[in-house]
Amino acid sequence: MPSTIVVGGFFGDEGKGKIISHLSTKDDPKIVVRGGAGPNAGHTIRDGEKTYKVRMLPSGFLNKKTKVMIGPGVVVNPDILLKEISEFGVAGRSFVDKNCGIIEQEHLQRDSKGELKEKIGSTGSGTGPANADRAMRILKLAKDIDSLSGLLADVSTELNTALDNNERVLVEGTQGTFLSLWHGTYPYVTSKDVTASGICADIGLGPKRVDDIMVVFKSYVTRVGTGPLENELSPEDTEKRGWAEFGTVTGRLRRAADFNFDLARRAVMLNSATQVAITKLDILFPDTAHKTSFEQLTPPAKSFIQKIEDELGVPVAIIGTGPESKDVIDRRN
Ligand code: IMP
Ligand code: MG
Repeated sequence: MPSTIVVGGFFGDEGKGKIISHLSTKDDPKIVVRGGAGPNAGHTIRDGEKTYKVRMLPSGFLNKKTKVMIGPGVVVNPDILLKEISEFGVAGRSFVDKNCGIIEQEHLQRDSKGELKEKIGSTGSGTGPANADRAMRILKLAKDIDSLSGLLADVSTELNTALDNNERVLVEGTQGTFLSLWHGTYPYVTSKDVTASGICADIGLGPKRVDDIMVVFKSYVTRVGTGPLENELSPEDTEKRGWAEFGTVTGRLRRAADFNFDLARRAVMLNSATQVAITKLDILFPDTAHKTSFEQLTPPAKSFIQKIEDELGVPVAIIGTGPESKDVIDRRN
């Protein structure tokens, strides 16, 4: 049974949450596990009438049969996690690795002022300062605090055992390739590596145990916070094109630019992508809204997808055509 890892190809907010909720419903994995930074991430998932904004739980929680887990490389804000578990009804199948770092009040304070806030435009979630303390070896871990005692697990053992038993595992990355501390636009990046290799390290899955690596790109590029963005549109032009989006965590207007093939090629290389997902095709080509098969797309939309495949040399396996989990074209097999 294969393991699939899903990561962002640009600057986060590519729409990974929606892709992951589709994969978790369609592929029925035994475990959905989250790597990545921490509650600086915000995934929006729409299921019928309901909209979920998740910051700590894996987006695959919508499949009620799936165990949801957070790997030891992720820093956890216990208040946010516990609130999501109870609000979204995921109690009894949510687990946190005993070695996850813990965000405390003081990390939130350090993240809400000075260089991090003003120069980098951090999310203020305490993620960066907590990772700094982890590097200093002074951060508390999940096993040290009472409120998480009922959720503790050895995530890497569970994952590797599931794969040994021929069960399917879905791995969620957060942020995006060019927010990586190593491969991104330093210093305007997050506090960790968030490429596929980094995400695997976060959860304790060795490189040889990954079968599919899906890199998610939005049909245009957005960036929230500071740092370079090639061919950035003015806020007025962003609005005119219908590309105005607001951050899930921070509520800030996202900066926007056209799809960037050079960046996308580099993301494919850095992550060794085997598949690509393209989201929000309906924003670029409104006549593709809610379509569920490639044949239903109009010629300009088809050529855009074809161009991506030609330029990147990787198949576009999934295409998002609307905000709901079911607004998707799944071209795998
Ligand atoms: P931090 O990760 O909160 O320290 O923020 C560092 C930079 O990464 C800022 O520009 C944030 O806006 C950006 N960032 C962090 N997490 C995300 C995310 O999940 N989506 C989009 N941008 C993010
Ligand atoms: Mg987001």
